[in-house]
Amino acid sequence: MAAVVPAAGAGVRLGAGVPKAFIEIDGTSMLVRAVAGLLDSGVVDDVVAVVPAARVRETESLLAPLRADGHLVVVTTGGAERTDSVRNGLAALESTAPAGDAGYDVLLVHDAARCLAPAGPTRRVVETVRAGAGAVVPVLPVVDTVKEVDDDGVVIGTPDRSALRAVQTPQGFDPALLLAAYDAAGDVATDDAGLVERLGEPVVTVEGHALSFKITTADDRMLAEFRLNPPPPRPEEPHD
Ligand code: C5P
Repeated sequence: MAAVVPAAGAGVRLGAGVPKAFIEIDGTSMLVRAVAGLLDSGVVDDVVAVVPAARVRETESLLAPLRADGHLVVVTTGGAERTDSVRNGLAALESTAPAGDAGYDVLLVHDAARCLAPAGPTRRVVETVRAGAGAVVPVLPVVDTVKEVDDDGVVIGTPDRSALRAVQTPQGFDPALLLAAYDAAGDVATDDAGLVERLGEPVVTVEGHALSFKITTADDRMLAEFRLNPPPPRPEEPHD
């Protein structure tokens, strides 16, 4: 089982001045948290981290301790769009994967920005691929009503909320299907399963987790810090 972790985004919306995956949450970078989280799930053997070209050497040393248990941890360079970064990660995996006729039976793709993702969804995704699904995504129900708007921002539709789901990572795939989806992908997609959908292949959902939220803005970062370091309970108010 191997996972590609795209971590080459600039993080402009976070405004921290460093690539997003290198921002620390409670003293540990998002990238290290994301990779360690996958390896700690117990179902992921090997990881490819995809980072900005200028960060490859630094990433090698950041991730070196995670190789201790015999995990293969490969670092490669990302591209302009997330799709390019994942494509580079898959290529790195193909060229460095351990020899053997079987290869990997499941490939995961997991955003470094979802660095607090717990093991539960990862295990559910992997189990569901192993049970025969070609593509599996962890999802949560959508709590807001969602509107579709035209170019002027005028509402043109209100999809039935009960049929909508917010999609997270790690997303899991039969390796041949994911590689075929990336081969066929001409342009960018915001998630990997979207490329599988374009091939007309089914994508199965499993239950995601609130802690798998993507850290995109400064508020998200504060929430992540808070979840790792909740403030001590307030002393009880004195009663009269
Ligand atoms: O930009 P977005 O929040 O959708 O990024 C999701 C993940 O993809 C992040 O972990 C980010 O570092 C990664 N990414 C990448 N290469 C890019 C853009 C985003 O690896 N060119």
